[in-house]
Amino acid sequence: MRIGFLGVGRIGASHAAVVAGHPDVESVVLADADPGRARAAAERLGVTAADAIDDVLETGVDALVIATPTDSHAELIVRGAEAGLPVFCEKPVALDVAGTRHVRDAVCATGMPVQIGFQRRFDAGYVAAREALASGRLGELRRLHAITADPTPPHASYIPTSGGIYKDCLIHDFDVIRWLTGREITEVTALGANRGAAFFGEAGDVDETVVLITLDDGTLGTLHGSRYNGAGCDVRLEVAGTEGTVAVGLDDHAALRSAESGVDFPAGEPYPTFWERFAPAYAAEISAFVEVVRDGRPSPCPVEEALEALYVAEAATRSRVEGRKVEVAEVRK
Ligand SMILES: NC(=O)c1ccc[n+]([C@@H]2O[C@H](COP(=O)([O-])OP(=O)(O)OC[C@H]3O[C@@H](n4cnc5c(N)ncnc54)[C@H](O)[C@@H]3O)[C@@H](O)[C@H]2O)c1
Repeated sequence: MRIGFLGVGRIGASHAAVVAGHPDVESVVLADADPGRARAAAERLGVTAADAIDDVLETGVDALVIATPTDSHAELIVRGAEAGLPVFCEKPVALDVAGTRHVRDAVCATGMPVQIGFQRRFDAGYVAAREALASGRLGELRRLHAITADPTPPHASYIPTSGGIYKDCLIHDFDVIRWLTGREITEVTALGANRGAAFFGEAGDVDETVVLITLDDGTLGTLHGSRYNGAGCDVRLEVAGTEGTVAVGLDDHAALRSAESGVDFPAGEPYPTFWERFAPAYAAEISAFVEVVRDGRPSPCPVEEALEALYVAEAATRSRVEGRKVEVAEVRK
């Protein structure tokens, strides 16, 4: 297999390192809007650099990995699929519902598998929690409590084009909750606060949020999101049923300390950023894509799934801005 990469910044270079080391991959070719960056990454990994995106498409690759900035994803996904290539693209597909639907329809017409980068579906803890719920060990699902908290905010220039905290960040929670429970989120109420840098408010965004969700079986859930979590990167999910509760992310690296005397768990260093927290999941998701290409398997996270998560993120955005509960069906119309 020959795999082409478009965009080898932070996450593209990390995916390329995994793919270059995959035993079933013969060659890797990297392109970036900054050709020097592509050449440097290629030299580091012992692979080839192309001067331009078109060169990658014309060199006869078997599949495409897209890790460019968000506003270029839609066009590049469609180009890749229409060229007859299986595509992996980082999340999100697009920041608006219309743009994401356009990509879904265009991809569907090609029949090519497209995998969107929701890496939590490949994280061992979320996988185990999904199995615990599906096996019946937890009984009937009753409550969900999720936290996604970064220790420090992204750069100021990132926020105005990020889509806001729900489409950029909590979209991972919305996706994984749908995937883990097998249920749809039907209602959303979101509150936000600006407690940190002024650039969040100036971009119409918030840096702290709480989201209340209702699933289609009546299960209630709470999600907390923060751009300023001094204790470290904290990404957890509690799944509580009538027979038991499991907690994803409650390991020795959990970014919290017990207030009880004599309790020294968790004792390890918290993950400094989401990179360390999800390193094995990022490697597993891109390896899964190689297997999609190799075996002609269906995508484990197709565009229509990303669209469902975007509907919830859009509902949360409307709820927070308009100060009301929003039914996800309103966004789907
Ligand atoms: N799944 C996750 O947890 C996760 C984490 C980080 C980033 N992301 C997503 O990955 C994408 C990239 O993020 P990043 O942090 O790696 O950004 P980055 O800025 O580090 O890298 C982007 C790279 O793309 C290049 N580029 C820009 N336009 C291009 C084009 N049209 N063609 C080819 N190359 C182009 C840039 O020169 C840069 O090297 C974003 O959409 C982001 O939302 C997802």
